[in-house]
Amino acid sequence: MSQIRAKITGVGKFLPDHIMTNKDLEDLVDTNDEWIRSRTGISERRILKDPDKGTSFIAEHAANDALNDAGLDASELDAIIVATVTPDYLFPATACLVQRRIGADNAYAFDLSAACSGFLFALTNGGNMIESGRAKKVLVIGADKMSSILDYTDRTTCILFGDGGGAVVLEASDSEAGIIDYVHHTQGDDECMLYQPGGGSINPATVETVENRLHYLRQDGKSVFKKATVGMADVSLEIMERNNLSPDDISWLVPHQANLRIIDATARRMGVDKEKVMININKYGNTTSGTIPLCLHDWKDQLNEGDNLILSAFGGGLTWGAIYLKWGK
Ligand code: UT7
Repeated sequence: MSQIRAKITGVGKFLPDHIMTNKDLEDLVDTNDEWIRSRTGISERRILKDPDKGTSFIAEHAANDALNDAGLDASELDAIIVATVTPDYLFPATACLVQRRIGADNAYAFDLSAACSGFLFALTNGGNMIESGRAKKVLVIGADKMSSILDYTDRTTCILFGDGGGAVVLEASDSEAGIIDYVHHTQGDDECMLYQPGGGSINPATVETVENRLHYLRQDGKSVFKKATVGMADVSLEIMERNNLSPDDISWLVPHQANLRIIDATARRMGVDKEKVMININKYGNTTSGTIPLCLHDWKDQLNEGDNLILSAFGGGLTWGAIYLKWGK
């Protein structure tokens, strides 16, 4: 019996209309367009301004777009995984809200929290469900409303992130295409290099936590930068070696979009030419769980049957990983 593979059969995305440029940020904090572009590669990012709309709104629209692309009805789904660090509520899971809104009556749904590696970890989990034979169709979504946890008085973090998300439909297939391999790592971050201090069980919301701005994302940018540059390249090389892939064998590198310098360093160490690297950080900034499916969507018309894709990410946790998948819809 041939191996069941989990193949991506649909890709969708949602981006809010409102564009926040680097110039707009100059009005909020002591920064400038030149600094942001040269240090990060970001020119603008999208912001979901409506306070009544949360991450589930992004996820729901990306989900419907992906289902449409796959030609699938939501009722056919067996499971939904939403990767996010900005859920609508601590509970219920954002995936449950999406499940109801898209009418996925036969799917069970849950969130997965692995920061910027969230989409990769979720894709692996969805893939494993299918490869085990327990599920046939799984929707994997990466979505974040990062503006809801950004401190727009902190120039070291607020310039980096944007809102948005993407989704893929995974289906069982007996073809060569699909998820071939993955390598994932975690190194528990005792030093809290990248985290949101308030709102959980250690610092539940009080007047003091709000006054001390604990409900915003905090990052030791320099330390995370060093770890990310090494981690993303190492794990990408690890998956290449395990699968005997030379740089020429790789059709596309699909990197998490946190900083153009991290992406460039990863591609360089892999020996992959820049033309084969998906980069849209200039338009969207770092959308956390959204970056990789947003890349897949932006490049989907350029992907061909049999293309070898390496997906690679690094994020809070600390978490990092890579997925090797063979394209084929
Ligand atoms: O997706 C999850 C993983 N996250 C990441 O991978 C992000 C990793 N970190 C980074 O991308 C970079 O560390 C940053 C973009 C956040 C910062 O870049 P950097 O080259 O590491 O800058 P830095 O922190 O060393 O700061 C250099 C200078 C400092 O001033 P002094 O101390 O040299 O006077 C900062 O205060 O730049 C200053 N600075 C800014 N200046 C203008 C920091 N932020 C800004 C800003 N505008 N927005």
